[in-house]
Amino acid sequence: MKKLDFFPGLSHFEYVLRLFVAGTRERSYTSHDNNVQTLAMLIENTTVLHHKVVNGGYRLLTLKSKLIAPAVQPGQFVHLRVPSLADAVLRRPFSVFRAQAGRLAILYKTVGKGTQAMESLRTGDEVNLIGPLGIGYPNVRRNSLPVLVAGGYGMAALYLVAQRARGKGIVFVGGKCADDILCADDFRRLGWNVRVATEDGSAGQKGLVTRILDAWLNKDLRGRTPEFFACGPNGLLKAVCKRTVRCGWSGWISMDRHMGCGLGACLACVQKVRMRDAAGREKWAWARVCTEGPVFACRDIVWEDRGRTTDAGRQTSDF
Ligand SMILES: Cc1cc2nc3c(=O)[nH]c(=O)nc-3n(C[C@H](O)[C@H](O)[C@H](O)COP(=O)(O)OP(=O)(O)OC[C@H]3O[C@@H](n4cnc5c(N)ncnc54)[C@H](O)[C@@H]3O)c2cc1C
Ligand code: FES
Repeated sequence: MKKLDFFPGLSHFEYVLRLFVAGTRERSYTSHDNNVQTLAMLIENTTVLHHKVVNGGYRLLTLKSKLIAPAVQPGQFVHLRVPSLADAVLRRPFSVFRAQAGRLAILYKTVGKGTQAMESLRTGDEVNLIGPLGIGYPNVRRNSLPVLVAGGYGMAALYLVAQRARGKGIVFVGGKCADDILCADDFRRLGWNVRVATEDGSAGQKGLVTRILDAWLNKDLRGRTPEFFACGPNGLLKAVCKRTVRCGWSGWISMDRHMGCGLGACLACVQKVRMRDAAGREKWAWARVCTEGPVFACRDIVWEDRGRTTDAGRQTSDF
């Protein structure tokens, strides 16, 4: 597809979407009342600095990024154009795992043709990104104990939360087996307490991550007020929401949805949420995960039983 000269790297289709989004910036749903939101959206041709296998089918891709990296807030994502696929193919969304001056990293799992094509990226290759996108996690509230709960590559979305938090907290991470436990040592190096559970018992305690979470909540909370930050498969997010809503705790989850445009225009990514109308009455509405999320307040999500999701990295267990 022909590129427009005045937005390098942007296809005609994306340019039209961008105009559309610019005209629909007014957000119908907002979950964050205590956070600064970044609405800046940049397009950048980044360069691969490193690309390596981390665990099993997971890879760490580090990109040289002068524009997007410094603007990233915890929980935001980038929309990546997979270079070896045709221009017309949709971009793929990935949480920003690390961001520091001049570079950003994503941690990804190969699940289909886009991520498979990404495996062939080499140092020096160019990768076009749009980002930082979406509304990320709010700052940890004063006097609360941050509790991070992750499944698989959900750890990627949570690293910046831990790195930028004022205090230290605790991380519960789960997966099917040891290969799904990513970057636990990165969190330990930040001084966070990391607890691991795997379904087959190959790392940490055997069982679901909610089992070790519940045990800790019952025995070790000791009057402190937890604030939850979660990212992972739907079952895990739902379990976190159930616990926070029941106890009146604050909780934030990052939702994973198939995305088309990533810019709020195609409505491929909607999630049912609770919100209040102008008169203060509660109602439900559709929120776009790409622009009003991916991070939502637990109390706002309307969970519908659509059956179990079954694909790689997104488990089928009941939490
Ligand atoms: C906000 C956000 C952040 C994300 N962060 C990460 C990350 O940090 N690391 C990472 O590995 N992945 C992340 N993902 C998921 C990632 O975008 C998909 O795995 C990727 O787009 C798959 O592309 P593909 O072409 O390889 O797979 P496809 O060939 O498109 O699909 C392969 C299989 O994966 C399923 N699938 C594809 N995309 C999704 C999705 N978004 N949710 C659920 N199932 C899906 C398909 O149904 C199919 O079964 C994130 C998604 C979102 C929305
Ligand atoms: S992906 Fe198009 S509106 Fe969210």
